[in-house]
Amino acid sequence: MKMNRRRFVGWMSMSAILTSMIGCNAPRESNSEGESTTSEAIRSDGFQVVGTVEELDAKGKLTNNVASAIVIRSANNDLIALDQRCPHQGCAVSLTESGERLACPCHGSEFTIRGELLQGPATTPLTTYEVKTEDNQVLVKVSQS
Ligand code: FES
Repeated sequence: MKMNRRRFVGWMSMSAILTSMIGCNAPRESNSEGESTTSEAIRSDGFQVVGTVEELDAKGKLTNNVASAIVIRSANNDLIALDQRCPHQGCAVSLTESGERLACPCHGSEFTIRGELLQGPATTPLTTYEVKTEDNQVLVKVSQS
């Protein structure tokens, strides 16, 4: 079959579109900071696997790129899951080096590791998610069901 230039360009454009669509839907293995993330499917009960207990203990936190969730283990061994999106304008908060607070890089809001507001400009706490472990996996309830 002979392919003229117009047909070849059209075929290449379609190929590029399909490739980019497939790439957008693929699960990410790490975020821009090189942290391990997951995009496991949301179960019918609204929970989503965000990692294993070993990963949480090794890294001190787990993040989830679908719900923008961060899971932290407190000093008294509680699991805490929070929405990483700052309630001020939506930047992703992260744990401070001490691991005692969450700070927003955009305008300086700070929160306790339980999401309580310590310092603005944000005026409300971080959203909390239900979190649990099952069969050595850490699950966060990212949607109501
Ligand atoms: Fe977090 Fe502004 S977006 S302080």
